[in-house]
Amino acid sequence: MPEKLLIVLLLFITVACTAQTGQTTLDRLRCEYRENPLGIDATAPRLSWEITSNKRNLMQQAYQIMVASSLADLKAGKADLWNSGKISSDQSLGVVYAGKPPGTGDACFWKVKVWTSDGKESAWSTPASWSMGLLRPSDWQAVWIGMDSAFAGDRPTDTFTRLSARYLRKDFRLPKKVKKATAYISGVGLYELYLNGTKTGKDVLAPGPTEYNKRTFYNTYDVTSQLQQGDNAIGAILGNGRYFSMRGNGSGLPPITNFGYPKMICQVNVIYEDGSTEKIVTDNSWKVTAAGPVGTNNEYDGEEYDATKEMPGWSKPGFNAASWLPVQLVSRPGELLVAQMNNNIRVMDTVRALHVKEVKPGVFIYDMGQNFVGWVRLKVKGPRGTQVVLRFAERLKDDGTLYMANLRSAKVTDKYTLNGKGTEDWEPRFTYHGFRYVEVTGYPGKPDLGAVEGRVVYDDMATTGHFETSNDVINQIYKNAYRGIRGNYRGMPTDCPQRDERMGWLGDRAVGARGESFIFGNHLLYAKWLQDIEDAQTPEGSVPDVAPSYWRMYSDNMTWPAAYLIIANLMYEQYGDDQPIRRHYASMKKWMAYMKDKYMKDDILTKDTYGDWCMPPESPELIHSKDPARKTAGDFLGTSFYYHLLTLMESFASITGNTADVTTFKNLEEKVKTAFNKKFLNEEGGYYANNTPTANIFSLAYQLAPEDRRKQVFQHIADKTLNDYKGHISTGLVGAEWLMRTLTSYGRGDIAYKLATNTTYPSWGYMAKEGATTIWELWNGNTADPAMNSGNHVMLLGDLVVWYYQNLGAIQPNPAAPGFKNIIMKPLVVGDLKKVDASYHSGYGLIRSNWEKIDQSFKWRVSIPVNTRATVYVPSKEAKNIKEGGKPIGDNKDVKFLRMEDGYAVYEIPSGNYDIQDDF
Ligand code: BGC
Repeated sequence: MPEKLLIVLLLFITVACTAQTGQTTLDRLRCEYRENPLGIDATAPRLSWEITSNKRNLMQQAYQIMVASSLADLKAGKADLWNSGKISSDQSLGVVYAGKPPGTGDACFWKVKVWTSDGKESAWSTPASWSMGLLRPSDWQAVWIGMDSAFAGDRPTDTFTRLSARYLRKDFRLPKKVKKATAYISGVGLYELYLNGTKTGKDVLAPGPTEYNKRTFYNTYDVTSQLQQGDNAIGAILGNGRYFSMRGNGSGLPPITNFGYPKMICQVNVIYEDGSTEKIVTDNSWKVTAAGPVGTNNEYDGEEYDATKEMPGWSKPGFNAASWLPVQLVSRPGELLVAQMNNNIRVMDTVRALHVKEVKPGVFIYDMGQNFVGWVRLKVKGPRGTQVVLRFAERLKDDGTLYMANLRSAKVTDKYTLNGKGTEDWEPRFTYHGFRYVEVTGYPGKPDLGAVEGRVVYDDMATTGHFETSNDVINQIYKNAYRGIRGNYRGMPTDCPQRDERMGWLGDRAVGARGESFIFGNHLLYAKWLQDIEDAQTPEGSVPDVAPSYWRMYSDNMTWPAAYLIIANLMYEQYGDDQPIRRHYASMKKWMAYMKDKYMKDDILTKDTYGDWCMPPESPELIHSKDPARKTAGDFLGTSFYYHLLTLMESFASITGNTADVTTFKNLEEKVKTAFNKKFLNEEGGYYANNTPTANIFSLAYQLAPEDRRKQVFQHIADKTLNDYKGHISTGLVGAEWLMRTLTSYGRGDIAYKLATNTTYPSWGYMAKEGATTIWELWNGNTADPAMNSGNHVMLLGDLVVWYYQNLGAIQPNPAAPGFKNIIMKPLVVGDLKKVDASYHSGYGLIRSNWEKIDQSFKWRVSIPVNTRATVYVPSKEAKNIKEGGKPIGDNKDVKFLRMEDGYAVYEIPSGNYDIQDDF
């Protein structure tokens, strides 16, 4: 029998057997929430696994973990690092390693098995692994190298700073056969590592951006296959990234912190076959040049590459580097050099151009069909010295040329000079652009459609969510959100990817991060960002509006820095990870105290900076509304946010065991609530402040309004939205954080649905109808002043994506059992919506909710992962009509009826796949 056929047959038999016996399998083993990570620096890492089975009602009752320092030992059942023994527990997410502390560089192999509630013991999982980084400063024998001055042609102090990339190299000999080699490297702003002529790894724009004077990341790569016995060479190219400032003084922008000239540290730890070791390190034996092909490289302005300056073999052994200079030993960037625990950026997708048009002689405009972030790969053939120029824009002018006014001072220009040797393929390394259209000039001849290919870059993370409905407007907006979100991950969540800004603005993501976390596995990126925020905090306690604080924006705002606590809470609820809360508790508490001491008067927090940012304005060209009736007062926002954050601090205090603080926060909550209602509740009218929807939304969402007033307050939101705003969006980005959920939880999901499906101004659907393939910065992004008019901002999404998944899709974490250990499934069946198909890959496995409404029948297919349970709300008048798998649901002994509530029959359902049907 041919081998392939045999494999297929075996596979079939395995699947068939699994199906019959309901066999349980263990997979997706993760260490620190990554699969087989290299070079971590957590000495008690957290281990997780996923259990799958086609059996229903399956919980883990116990587990056993074995960890060994070699794969062979692990396979042989020897666990020299840790044998947990059988632990009675249902925990399968974030189990803390409690074995022998692994040492620097150690490899750890692990496997797990579980006992489940059906009385069975699983087989051992397939082994997984992790490796430790360089744990102590003394493990680094390498030192930081670079050149602390400009090279010929650099213009480091101009407004438009220009610095060529620096190439560094060294030859070395490895006398014996290599068993294993691991490279630990950091290069700031950006590095590419080369060994014997090939690039190491697939990461781009590495390492992650940080508050460099506090913390710099190093990355770890297994480079065994790149080395050989005998002569070897190591090289690196250093770009500017966010380390060397993208703008000098005089641009009219806030000054961007300049940390200095690029520099690197690298250590390759080699283990020979005979067990002896060697280290290749950065030191003063390395050489440097800036005369290579990568010229100026600037994230705003683009990259220039001159292929006539290529240096064939520069990272191979034996290259003649006589013209290169000896490197300088330079100071380290900041206090800490730590392992990067979130993934780097990669090329995650490619996009082909839809069409190309010659708009003027020699000026070719490519339409890539969607606004995305990254760059293009150029394919070109022509005479040596020819220069092709690429420029990028999100929109076109009426004459078909690029519209660049909204990019402000960003030059977004890549230049490629041909070496003339056959077909040349090139893509930049140290820049990126946000664009849909590409202008190509200087191309030898007529470029064909394939001469440029779009390279979509963002942080390497899984797409965890799927969401599709019967409504085309919603589906289009969802796609636009998806593109915008991934395009604004650049090792930090940025506001925009195209103009001269691209900063980690806190307020843009406070609630957006929750919606995003359904679509993308953004756990580690946001955990990293919380560290950026703490690193950017001043000694007095102020938290900036932008982190890392490349723009030093310390406005002592309430609403933007609130993201710090709100996102720490999200990490807990969505991923079941309490580490961010524990890690940043002291810093968050300090910030809360700082704001109180400085800005609290009579229990009112008087400070706010941006108001309800980007409220739809009264006329099409305005950026911000001038109408006082649309604005929500700063002290209202400051106080309501402060109150909400106190409630979060209260819960953080109990999670972290700071019991005394629980009372302190609680007491202050009471005082703030009293002062808030005294000052802002209009007793007569039953509304808050000047009766903006935003003011009323927060008094409800943050549970500030007295219970007996809530309905009345809500009525104002509904009335205003329907009457004053003609059924359209009535908030800026702050109010939008709770808009859709508040409408829905107060029984007006129909209004939320209207906002979600509108295609007239102002709405998300309007953007899409006007041709947007992402989300705009402004509701009136097609008509407003270009000074602040990005075509790819995600802040106006507010809680829309949260609402898609939690309400329409009915997949919601229960904060009482975080990380989706318990799932709340309560579909909003609304308007003319006929179908929703939503899924989310949680830490426990795939949650699926696929409903369909046909006439009077509601069909709902639900998947609940092993080791979790769900509280399921079936839309129903009478529970007796509900069926599961064609039989009355009550016949199913695994399903427990809890109660009837607001038009839903509520059940507790254990893991498994269910086919629910209700005829109402
Ligand atoms: C940014 C926003 C940011 C805002 C705050 C804008 O320039 O692009 O996203 O939140 O400023 O002032």
